Amino acid sequence: MKKVAIFGSGRGSNALSLLEYFDENPDVEVSLIVSNKKDTGILQHAYDYYIPSFVVDKYAMENEKRLSKVLQDEQIDYIVLAGFLWLIPENIVKKYEGKIINIHPSLLPDFGGHGMYGMNVHNAVFNSGNKISGISIHEVNQNYDDGAIIYQEECEISDCKSPQEVAAKILELEHKNYPLVVDNWIKSKMS
Ligand code: GAR
Repeated sequence: MKKVAIFGSGRGSNALSLLEYFDENPDVEVSLIVSNKKDTGILQHAYDYYIPSFVVDKYAMENEKRLSKVLQDEQIDYIVLAGFLWLIPENIVKKYEGKIINIHPSLLPDFGGHGMYGMNVHNAVFNSGNKISGISIHEVNQNYDDGAIIYQEECEISDCKSPQEVAAKILELEHKNYPLVVDNWIKSKMS
């Protein structure tokens, strides 16, 4: 059994799609939810699924010993970022090299990097006049949105009349793909 920690900062809809997908999965278990904010949807999902959660503040992130210990105590094998807005501490990136995955709501390298998250991305894509957007799922290194791409999928956004409509289309694509890509990625690491 491989153990996964999901890190997120907000609503947690991708975390929920992962929890639903891996519920009672014989090979992969979501064993921990980490959030950098207290009253978030993602922590409610952890509660609903009886999964331990850990809230990190900036200090705990910079002095990552406590977070490392929590990951170690829960015997976490893989870290899945689902809307987590902070950089992962260098020591944890090193320790989990090739074992951290992220989803980004654009076709990287376009509209990625520091400050590009959530609606910031969709506003920028919409204002660019691009007819196509999409999702990128990638391994995580020390820089924002920069690790090896594992999966990308495009979608038409020429019919979208606002950044919110782009966001809704992209979110649907994320929910459809992220659990499956995470599952296959973990399987590929095991074989
Ligand atoms: C998702 O769209 C995810 O791709 C994005 O945050 C949203 C989180 O929504 N992540 C980034 O922008 C990372 N750069 P959720 O909390 O409902 O899953």
